[in-house]
Amino acid sequence: TPGRRIFSGIQPTGVPHLGNYLGALENWVGLQDACGSVLYSIVDLHAITMPQDPAHLRRNILDMTASLLACGIRPAHCILFQQSQVSEHAELSWILGCLTSMPRLRHLPQWKMKSKQKNEGSVGLFTYPVLQAADILLYRSTHVPVGEDQVQHLELAQDVARIFNNRYRDLFPEPRALLSASRKIKSLRDPTSKMSKSDPQRLATIHLTDTPDDIALKVRKAVTDFTSEVTFDPERRPGVSNLVAIHAAVSGQSVEEVVWGARGLDTARYKEVVADAVNHKVAPIREGIVRLRAEGGYLETVLAEGAARARELAVPILAEVRKRVGF
Ligand code: ADP
Ligand code: NA
Repeated sequence: TPGRRIFSGIQPTGVPHLGNYLGALENWVGLQDACGSVLYSIVDLHAITMPQDPAHLRRNILDMTASLLACGIRPAHCILFQQSQVSEHAELSWILGCLTSMPRLRHLPQWKMKSKQKNEGSVGLFTYPVLQAADILLYRSTHVPVGEDQVQHLELAQDVARIFNNRYRDLFPEPRALLSASRKIKSLRDPTSKMSKSDPQRLATIHLTDTPDDIALKVRKAVTDFTSEVTFDPERRPGVSNLVAIHAAVSGQSVEEVVWGARGLDTARYKEVVADAVNHKVAPIREGIVRLRAEGGYLETVLAEGAARARELAVPILAEVRKRVGF
């Protein structure tokens, strides 16, 4: 498709977990060879909407960079960059914020949830979706790979694009969602909630830097039930079904193929099979991350080159925005 441009962002949360990989990053790797240009941003401006330790944030940005590269993101095939190195994001966000009403933002479910947890969130947390709109529109992006939890924020970006286009003449395409066949990986310790970086339960989350022993232990301790046979029934057997789903995702098999392959195994034996399959996927990624972390200066160079390429696209678009606004 001519003129197709894909944008997606990920917060610098450090080394991603298996849910991030299977739910988002694996899809990013596949999309980087799509027609048109593809931009992937490590969105550190978004990360400071919650309190952050500076040294920790800096390390997390580099760990996310190493992780994306180790997962197969290739700077020759896409533009990988750190959001704050392209200051045009913040400037466009201000302009778009002036086109967005407070009630529109107040009604977004994530604000309702997060501000309740924090009592009162920061202004940055409140306007976070406007910055997301700016991230997308700054490149006149046409497609955005998103999880279902982000669809409402993409709708805001579409609204803001429309408002800008109506007021200042057409400039922005209305960005469309690229919903991947979403598979939610569940916590190994509580298979009714999703696998998450913030799960306080030990052994609940597999990280891409986990060793074969870490993975074997976590899978062995995964919550299952008192039926020993392997079946897929997420409603009644969330634990073993999560293992089947993980197994299918890492091996590229269907759920049916995995269940058929596990016939005759009890869950204890099956867990060994799952751990092997997970490790088969994770081990090369882990080795890549370890290698890249040790290469001083390389990650910074990748980010600097990515930012320069992103700015080449962003600067003329922002210049056009400024002109239309009247600056
Ligand atoms: P977390 O829940 O660990 O904080 P994020 O919300 O930062 O993860 O999500 C980053 C990306 O990873 C998003 O695209 C999200 O949809 C995906 N993702 C996160 N957790 C999972 C999961 N358990 N299963 C599938 N995808 C996930
Ligand atoms: Na994303």
